Amino acid sequence: MAPRGPGSPSNLVPWAAAVLLVVGAKRALALPEICIQCPGSVRNLSEVALYCKQTPELMLQARCCLNQKGTILGLDLQNCSLKDPGPDFPQAHTAVIIDLQANPLKDDLANIFRGFTQLQTLILPQDVSCPGGINAWNTVTFYMNNQTCQGQRNLCNSTGDQEMCPENGSCVPDGPGLLQCVCADGFHGYKCMRQGSFSLLMFFGILGSTTLSVSILLWGTQRRKAKAS
Ligand SMILES: *[C@@H]1O[C@H](CO)[C@@H](O)[C@H](O)[C@H]1NC(C)=O
Ligand SMILES: *[C@@H]1O[C@H](CO)[C@@H](O)[C@H](O)[C@H]1NC(C)=O
Ligand SMILES: *[C@@H]1O[C@H](CO)[C@@H](O)[C@H](O)[C@H]1NC(C)=O
Ligand SMILES: *[C@@H]1O[C@H](CO)[C@@H](O)[C@H](O)[C@H]1NC(C)=O
Ligand SMILES: *[C@@H]1O[C@H](CO)[C@@H](O)[C@H](O)[C@H]1NC(C)=O
Repeated sequence: MAPRGPGSPSNLVPWAAAVLLVVGAKRALALPEICIQCPGSVRNLSEVALYCKQTPELMLQARCCLNQKGTILGLDLQNCSLKDPGPDFPQAHTAVIIDLQANPLKDDLANIFRGFTQLQTLILPQDVSCPGGINAWNTVTFYMNNQTCQGQRNLCNSTGDQEMCPENGSCVPDGPGLLQCVCADGFHGYKCMRQGSFSLLMFFGILGSTTLSVSILLWGTQRRKAKAS
């Protein structure tokens, strides 16, 4: 094997791996803000706790039920004195079950749940309507102190794709009572009428990976300097 100088690119590989590992570990440790927005943890017999205990891979942490990647699947903010769910609430857009009962919520939740496409069970104070209205859910049940909105309906199916969205776009759900028209591949712009392959995602992808490799490079060289001195 040929001897390699300290600056050779192969030396960067373990550094890069170390950086990614550290970043990954930090991500796993840091709980999303929404999970600690309210003190305490999920109560034992609450619906969120019951949901979380059904699957061994899921774990309860503070007010959340998370999977092993740290994705929020359940959120229990009951009895948190909330007038509104707050700016961190979109972090919970992956949740399947959310409990907001026993809060003085204002009765206007429609846009707060934009993007919450996975949500199947929502528990609310009795005086707050299910977001999207009664037609956005399969069942709405009233109890003495709360109500549950259950089974999010896909409005794209009932309203008819063709009428809602332009010719080269298609309808996708965007949370309770909400939908979105997404342009087909190769189309963009107003009413999906412009053709071309401009892709914002790809642009950010390239920019993002360049930034990352530069950071790793800097981190690696800085560390080596620090060690030498
Ligand atoms: C909550 O559940 C845990 C185990 O699931 C149990 O050890 C604990 O005693 C329970 N606490 C209460 C107050 O029921
Ligand atoms: C709500 O929280 C308060 C303390 O913040 C507590 O005293 C009360 O018992 C709780 N109520 C319920 C129904 O959990
Ligand atoms: C809703 O409130 C009732 C009391 O009216 C309570 O028994 C029930 O457990 C609550 N439902 C949920 C899902 O917490
Ligand atoms: C809506 O339609 C899609 C396919 O167009 C289907 O996969 C989905 O199961 C339907 N959902 C409901 C609730 O009917
Ligand atoms: C939709 O796409 C087809 C080609 O796939 C094109 O002929 C048509 O003009 C497009 N319609 C609109 C409204 O842009």
